Amino acid sequence: MTLQLERLAAPTTHARLLAWVREVAELTQPDAVQWCDGSEAEWERVTTQMVRTGTLIRLDPLARPNSFHARTDPDDVARVEDRTFICSADEADAGPTNHWVDPAEMKTTMTELYRGSMRGRTMYVIPFCMGPLDAHEPRFGVEITDSPYVVASMKIMTRMGSAPLAAMTADGDADFVPCLHSVGAPLEPGQADVPWPCNATKYIAHFPEERAVWSYGSGYGGNSLLGKKCYSLRIASVMAHDEGWLAEHMLILRLISPEGRRYHVAAAFPSACGKTNLAMIQPTLPGWRAEMIGDDIAWMRVGEDGRLYATNPENGLFGVAPGTGWTTNPNAMRTMESGNSLFTNVAVTDHGDVWWEGMTSIAPRRATDWQGRAWTPEDDTPAAHPNSRFCTPISQCPVLADDFDSPTGVPIDAILFGGRRASTVPLVSQARSWQHGVFMGATCSSETTAAATGEVGLVRRDPMAMLPFIGYHAADYLGHWLSMAGREGVRLPEVFYVNWFRKSADGRFLWPGFGENSRVLAWITQRLDGAVGAVESPAGLLPEPGDLDLRGLDTDQDTVARAVAFDADEWREEVPRIEEWFASLGPRLPAALHEELETLRSSLA
Ligand code: GDP
Ligand code: PGA
Ligand code: MN
Ligand code: MN
Repeated sequence: MTLQLERLAAPTTHARLLAWVREVAELTQPDAVQWCDGSEAEWERVTTQMVRTGTLIRLDPLARPNSFHARTDPDDVARVEDRTFICSADEADAGPTNHWVDPAEMKTTMTELYRGSMRGRTMYVIPFCMGPLDAHEPRFGVEITDSPYVVASMKIMTRMGSAPLAAMTADGDADFVPCLHSVGAPLEPGQADVPWPCNATKYIAHFPEERAVWSYGSGYGGNSLLGKKCYSLRIASVMAHDEGWLAEHMLILRLISPEGRRYHVAAAFPSACGKTNLAMIQPTLPGWRAEMIGDDIAWMRVGEDGRLYATNPENGLFGVAPGTGWTTNPNAMRTMESGNSLFTNVAVTDHGDVWWEGMTSIAPRRATDWQGRAWTPEDDTPAAHPNSRFCTPISQCPVLADDFDSPTGVPIDAILFGGRRASTVPLVSQARSWQHGVFMGATCSSETTAAATGEVGLVRRDPMAMLPFIGYHAADYLGHWLSMAGREGVRLPEVFYVNWFRKSADGRFLWPGFGENSRVLAWITQRLDGAVGAVESPAGLLPEPGDLDLRGLDTDQDTVARAVAFDADEWREEVPRIEEWFASLGPRLPAALHEELETLRSSLA
């Protein structure tokens, strides 16, 4: 069946876009093509249709207005790092940390998969912009997808529809990143659909030179909302390298001290290691306030004054549900309470509300679990999938900074790196220099989480929390970070390394975390102001005893001391692991990082 040209009904004159849409339609053979305008009417249409097909459940409008739940296929619940490819022209440019396939070969393989893959479905064309439309250089993308779940999610997560499409032709045909997505589940005439169409074969492919993304087989957010990880991190990291800026896996936060001083913090933690929570922190230290600018991605550029300015390219939150509750993250709970949200793989209560482990201290007496089975608290499986998610407009966050979509962004005072380490890494340490800070980021490690498929709890190096997201050679990426210091007139932020996840011998967290992390943030601001000293250690500068404000904290001093402590024996064990990691990055690794490792080694001798 050939698609009639009229049925493309294109609301644009953008020549390259029109040609690409036609080419994809001819290849994938959808029943219809729909250009998304981003309107409420469109949201209403796609959500209603998904309720009809069983993809979505409408939640109780009194508890969760205009909100829905999606149960995915049980094999389509997380990012698939082993199916994610950086298809650079030269294999060496993908580096040792990425999977690589020759771009021509990948395109041949995927073209065959896409052939007819949208039969029986609607092909949606989603024009979008990462970051505000009035940015100096707006970064456009267009996602073509056969998934209405993607349409609804992209409406929450990005600026999408008619406005970015109009902006794309306002001043000649603008550049855009083509993002092609198919769930890979064509329907034959008369064939009934399943609630969550997907394919056992999955490819998340990136073409860095061409600045294009092709995704096939998965409907899960990180694999299918291509503006997020694929564009704003993997492709954007390549753009940033070429253009002299940074595209990072970071939250952006404004802290306001009791005296009204403002500080801006960007923090990189691996997936499911606390970014969304820190971004929305409700400080427990009296008088402190915090405002959120972003919770997952930061684009940072050196401004005219030499400072590093960060913007959040996203427009929504795609947060880990389990562990999010009124005591841990009340601001996330308030954000969702306003409705207009999509939940994925959580549990649903008899009242048509959502529930997950950690949302309330008492579980509902019964619920329907993430796979649609009857569940009670006595069951030994969790009600919600550990990587279940809430997807909510950022505008609903009660602590959103009112200038969050300022095109210039906010000047960053401190960069935090962190991860989930049960041992070794102290609660907080400060880098002695930019180079030492880059070393901290480069050697950052974390236990794997349910955010990606594969075993959970394995310690791995995760440089700048970007291991799965660097779109080129990791050693060149670290070189790019180092090179920021060589720019004329630059005044870079201070760098800190934090670990909220250190555990006692009996497996309990030593530090209470969440709102109490404000105590660590307060110490960081005092360091920025030169208001307190610090203790030198091989791991960096540590708080002097008494300088962390612990007033009102109900964790005993001894436990806190163990969270803060530097343990030379543990660090001696760490050195060979860092050596091994650096060796795996090969000869392109900058000498400055080998130097820092030498400094660490000799200071431990
Ligand atoms: P993100 O994926 O990096 O944005 O991480 P989230 O903020 O969504 O948190 C992931 C998981 O870690 C959730 O289950 C949180 O409840 C938990 N978490 C976040 N911050 C802390 C903390 O400070 N301490 C502890 N123990 N857990 C935390
Ligand atoms: P997260 O975002 O970092 O908030 O978990 C999704 C992901 O990284 O997969
Ligand atoms: Mn993330
Ligand atoms: Mn998050």
